[in-house]
Amino acid sequence: MADLADADLHLVERGSGLPLLLVHGFPLDHSMWAGQLDGLAGDARILAPDLRGFGRSPPGADVMPMERFADDLAALLDARGIREPVVFCGLSMGGYIGWQFCRRHRARLRGLILCDTRAAADSPAAADARLANANRVLAEGMGFLADGMLDKLFAAQTRQHQPELVAATRRVMLAAAPRGVAAALRGMAVRPDASAWLPQIDLPTLIVCGREDAISTVDEMRGIARSLPQARFVEVAAAGHMSPLEQPEPVNQAIREFLTA
Ligand code: MLT
Repeated sequence: MADLADADLHLVERGSGLPLLLVHGFPLDHSMWAGQLDGLAGDARILAPDLRGFGRSPPGADVMPMERFADDLAALLDARGIREPVVFCGLSMGGYIGWQFCRRHRARLRGLILCDTRAAADSPAAADARLANANRVLAEGMGFLADGMLDKLFAAQTRQHQPELVAATRRVMLAAAPRGVAAALRGMAVRPDASAWLPQIDLPTLIVCGREDAISTVDEMRGIARSLPQARFVEVAAAGHMSPLEQPEPVNQAIREFLTA
């Protein structure tokens, strides 16, 4: 556990060298980066926290805006004594946090990796659905949310050939704390549209997208890459929204090349 001023964050740390901060998606935890923790420990000092209210990190406030998660991560770097710029790698909600980290803690960044994420804000209908889901999770628990999300997360090939990944992801979702999940849903519902910031992001950026991602599509992510001044775009075959988990080898290769470029 890393001891921050107003929170404790569970953290898995591996390897040495350039710091690589891996920020998980919703409603998951650090274990979605298993393939990177194993495959990239020889290339970087990997920090894979559980965000506040996920995994083994206790929940915080009733609403967790993306800005607050970003500030937690900056405090985590302080707690680990990391002053040198890091590479921030976030998937989906981790990417929403990445935009905020970039705005609020730019000096702490050497590069940015965005996997299967979006720059746009929620539509009013999507934001309303998140707020309704937040109340429902608190009343009923995680079952309905896990069932609704699982189908959309993985490519058909993953469901067929790696059913253990789907089952493990389901277990992580069911174990998530409803208070933490509700707070993140409320935070995502109010997140700002990051699209207008993209041309100003003066950092090397790697955009990774599963070819079958049904949530943040290849077309949408290609558009993000085009708006960023220094972006490289990598499309991952036989992967959906969870590309680093579904296809760790090509994703690790892309990250490795990015780190050494
Ligand atoms: C995620 O994978 O983090 C979620 O799909 C993000 C979202 O619900 O927008």
